Amino acid sequence: MDSWDSRHLPISLHQEKLVHAIKANAFLVVTGETGSGKTTQLPQYLYQAGLGKNGKIGVTQPRRVAAITVAQRVSHEVGCSLGKEVGYQVRFDDCSSENTVIKYMTDGCLLREILADPSLRQYSVVILDEVHERSLNTDILLGLLKRKVFHPQGSSPGRSTSLKVVVMSATLETAKLSEFLGHCPVFTIPGRTFPVAETFCSLIGPKDTDSSVYVKEVVKVALDLHTGEMTGDILVFLTGQSEIEKACDMLYEKAEAIDYRYDVHDHSVEGLLILPLYGSMPTDQQRQIFQPPPKGVRKCVVATNIAATSLTINGIRYIVDSGFVKQLNHNSRVGLDILEVVPISKSEAQQRAGRAGRTTAGKCFRIYSKEFWEKCMPEYTVPEIQRTSLTSVILTLKCLGVHDVIRFPYLDCPEERFILAALKQLYQCDAIDRRGHVTRLGKLMVEFPLPPGLTRALLKGASLGCEDLLLPVAAMLSVENIFIRPGQQDKQQDAEREHRKLITKSGSCNDFTVLLSVFEKCRASDSPSTWCRDHWIHWRAMKSAFNVETQLREILLRLKKQNDFPMETFDGSRSELFRRCLCSGYFANVARRAVGRTFCTMDGHGSVVHIHPSSALFDQEAELDWIIFHDVLVTSRVYVRTVCPIRYDWVKDLLPKLHEVDAYELSSVAREEVTDEEVTRWEAKEAAKRQADESAEEAL
Ligand code: CDP
Ligand code: MG
Repeated sequence: MDSWDSRHLPISLHQEKLVHAIKANAFLVVTGETGSGKTTQLPQYLYQAGLGKNGKIGVTQPRRVAAITVAQRVSHEVGCSLGKEVGYQVRFDDCSSENTVIKYMTDGCLLREILADPSLRQYSVVILDEVHERSLNTDILLGLLKRKVFHPQGSSPGRSTSLKVVVMSATLETAKLSEFLGHCPVFTIPGRTFPVAETFCSLIGPKDTDSSVYVKEVVKVALDLHTGEMTGDILVFLTGQSEIEKACDMLYEKAEAIDYRYDVHDHSVEGLLILPLYGSMPTDQQRQIFQPPPKGVRKCVVATNIAATSLTINGIRYIVDSGFVKQLNHNSRVGLDILEVVPISKSEAQQRAGRAGRTTAGKCFRIYSKEFWEKCMPEYTVPEIQRTSLTSVILTLKCLGVHDVIRFPYLDCPEERFILAALKQLYQCDAIDRRGHVTRLGKLMVEFPLPPGLTRALLKGASLGCEDLLLPVAAMLSVENIFIRPGQQDKQQDAEREHRKLITKSGSCNDFTVLLSVFEKCRASDSPSTWCRDHWIHWRAMKSAFNVETQLREILLRLKKQNDFPMETFDGSRSELFRRCLCSGYFANVARRAVGRTFCTMDGHGSVVHIHPSSALFDQEAELDWIIFHDVLVTSRVYVRTVCPIRYDWVKDLLPKLHEVDAYELSSVAREEVTDEEVTRWEAKEAAKRQADESAEEAL
């Protein structure tokens, strides 16, 4: 047990008043500095006050790591084993039971639960936590819960109106939240913070965006700090798993070469305990982050943005801020969502700095210059709903009976073109029809916690009886990268050699088949973990892939039993069958060879893309004509990853769908105001266009 005691947290003085305020109101906004005890303590107060007697106390988190670690902590405090009274549920990992009263979960999980039970009968209290993060799912939940309470006629009957909704946020935008929720009361937990001295180290200027630059600089600053400053732990903010692993490698290397591929426990370098912290880390390692370091040792946590507000690590006195974050953004140039490294906002930078001033005065070292701050960093972070694809949530809303997805109560409205783009994609996947109604396929699709394209491919595979090819691929694409990429040069070469061998052994030049082959070979081997070590594959990631595959298979089995599942037949080789299934999901991600090694996308954007060097098809561009791809990475170039060669014939009939829908028709679909005449007119227009296309093709 660490020295920290929950009775001394700022929130503890307000226990009674908080419980009273929640009992007295349908909605309550609770705000307080990060680390004041909101997430870990408030659900326990409600539990103690008996609010868990008639239903669960559900607490949502935008991040899965936060849901898991907090549940661990709280079960420990309550004195039960995890999954009993206190449990958690995140995508593909349910650690809760019938007896669970306090349930931490991701916001995405609660959204799925609403699909199955729109009136949330299981719950007496729902706490939306970390609302200031403005994650897409939390924003949608806010709108749904607002509708439920203010317009109960729209929700299913039988719900007692006693559901309590608590919205927790770290200081930002509470007035706006309260107004949105019918001017509900705001409870502020007073807290004390200490001054944090901020230094601009000017190692990064407005032009430095290459990740190798900032990784090197944060390492340098952290080591200087370790040798030059008094006691106190260090928290380094970086962007993602690979940069964090690289930085940790470099920190270790400074003293001695340590192979930490399989074991990162307890490596201290000259009194420095280096701990990585990122989303997909195994939970036992995450727990270590919260333990105080041994006497005389300084802890240095190298984390993603998760440590900015979701998780509070005690003892942090120094911050090293890279100034960057990895963010999912809709890229209108490519027409796709892309995970990009971008400068953080100024408000985010202040939040990061604040982590050093919780218990005593601290210091924050920003590796960038004042000029970078002024020129490159926006004032605030744009909410996710305004910058990413809305396809999955729009489908969810439609399945929940929210037809007018434009006039849904959004805290901040997404741009209409994003809503239209989502409808377009759903229409292209046959998830909704021309009138904007969910199709039979759409109802099947919403059951899978996967991106729509992948779900469509999987369902196609299932109806053709070849789900055994598609399920492992869907699972492999749902876990972190399985290929180990070591930081050190010589090891990197070893790893690459092994990976190339795997590609050759898979007997095909197609990244999806490589994933399938790795999955099957690893599962069939006598000792899968040894197999992974020999081939530089993350065993942990493989284990989750096996688990995810089982879960997806269960969903599919259930659907096959419940519905009259559409079945088709196909004559042809397995390889063709497999690739045709992929085409039916990914036909929007299709590209054709252009000049040299480049490809041109065919979705109307006509972007020029390159095959990523990690692909089995890299260097073989000359032999390719048409390809489909899973995702896109933008650095100095636009790269496509997980690529599969296809034949034009296979997508020919699908492609017209990409150009069928124009914005006018969609905006009326979005509002559900389509008349019969409009549908007829639309169909006629389309038939004419198709005919024109066909004659043009014949002329060629
Ligand atoms: O939600 P809020 O930011 O207000 O605070 P919290 O997450 O409830 O954290 C309260 C305290 O619990 C902090 O001192 C954390 O360091 C500690 N904590 C912990 O030791 N282990 C965890 N897994 C989570 C929180
Ligand atoms: Mg919290």
